[in-house]
Amino acid sequence: MTRANPYTPGQVPRVLVGRAAELRRIEDLLARVVTYGEIGGPLLVFHAPRGIGKTSLLRTAQRTADELGFVSAWVACSRERPVLPELVRALQTALERAEALPRGGAGGRWRRRLERVTIEVGLPGTAKVQAQLDARPSESETPADPIGRAPVGALEALLHDTATHLRNRGGAGLVVFVDELHAASADDMSVLLNTLQVLDGDRNANPLAVVAAGLPVTPEALTRAATFGERSAFVSLDLLSDADARSLLAVPAEAEGVAWTDDALAAVVGEARGHPYLLQLSGSTTWDAARPEEGDTLTLDDVRRGLPAARDQLTAMHRARWGAATPTERAFLAAMAATGRDNVTRADIARGMGRESRAISVPRERLIEKGVIEPVGHGLVRFTLPGFGQFVRALEQE
Ligand SMILES: Nc1ncnc2c1ncn2[C@@H]1O[C@H](COP(=O)(O)OP(=O)(O)O)[C@@H](O)[C@H]1O
Ligand SMILES: [Mg+2]
Repeated sequence: MTRANPYTPGQVPRVLVGRAAELRRIEDLLARVVTYGEIGGPLLVFHAPRGIGKTSLLRTAQRTADELGFVSAWVACSRERPVLPELVRALQTALERAEALPRGGAGGRWRRRLERVTIEVGLPGTAKVQAQLDARPSESETPADPIGRAPVGALEALLHDTATHLRNRGGAGLVVFVDELHAASADDMSVLLNTLQVLDGDRNANPLAVVAAGLPVTPEALTRAATFGERSAFVSLDLLSDADARSLLAVPAEAEGVAWTDDALAAVVGEARGHPYLLQLSGSTTWDAARPEEGDTLTLDDVRRGLPAARDQLTAMHRARWGAATPTERAFLAAMAATGRDNVTRADIARGMGRESRAISVPRERLIEKGVIEPVGHGLVRFTLPGFGQFVRALEQE
């Protein structure tokens, strides 16, 4: 019988390879909460372009946290929804799933409170209004941190009470995972950072940890949202090494009794250049082309027969990114692609667009925020998804 495809393009992987050091960072935070019942240090933030494995890392850490006796809440930020009410809902879901809400009257009080806090932190513009009230005229040239006193107080009390409640019931405490943090508004980031700051001030009383992930703009966005945002711990996620890329392909197959030939592995590893999503995609299309049974071996020929499906999928992703770009952003991308180089200078892009170098900052920032391009130092940028330059050049010729 053919074995089920073990690869997971676009989903949490069965086996997370090559992230031992990053997982250890999270486990260190959790250990502090477990051992001392205190807050697990400053906000820990992983950042990387799309497809590098942020969500997979956080989901794997969430499993570890559950095994250690934590109750974990998960929130994925989005530009469409205010983040803080989502966070409160995530806490409620986590408490209910862990059956940690008291039965009877006390449970009802908790639920009513969660609803109240949801409203309190979700009032549009609360933080902004408060910031204007707080900003003293003498500070007008350096904008004050937009602290919303009411949301900070409400969120602080809720996180404190939830974490201590869980600890008192014999659990390890609370861990909150915040994915896609770059998409949170500056106000929401500010409230979150200020809340953590307050909780950290009384750290022995707060058995909780917060771990976040976002695109490479996240550190900058956090620092802009609150000056002390820079005290968060920032960790960038890199592409996988060749050895880890091989494990990503070989280990899930091995579990199904299926092997890879060396040249087949080498071909995929060479092509994907350490990009986890591309590795999962090629693994998956190779598997589907071969439909292996237990004891079979995947060959270079299977890799080749899987390529059209992998290419189709990639083209669909290229098209989606192109489709979401504004006309100015498209001109920017076309100018980048036209150079035919991986890393492109600001001057080359400006020249290609027929603009001054200073005048291309807005599309540049927006494309970085969207995760379509990323800075690689010295003002250079590159595409985050392999093959995107070729795709854009092909469009130009249509
Ligand atoms: N360390 C890893 N080991 C195996 N597969 C991974 C790893 N990291 C990411 N992946 C795979 O890569 C793809 C993208 O991962 P994801 O966590 O969604 O990235 P991100 O959140 O950074 O966009 C998924 O298909 C996932 O299965
Ligand atoms: Mg993700």
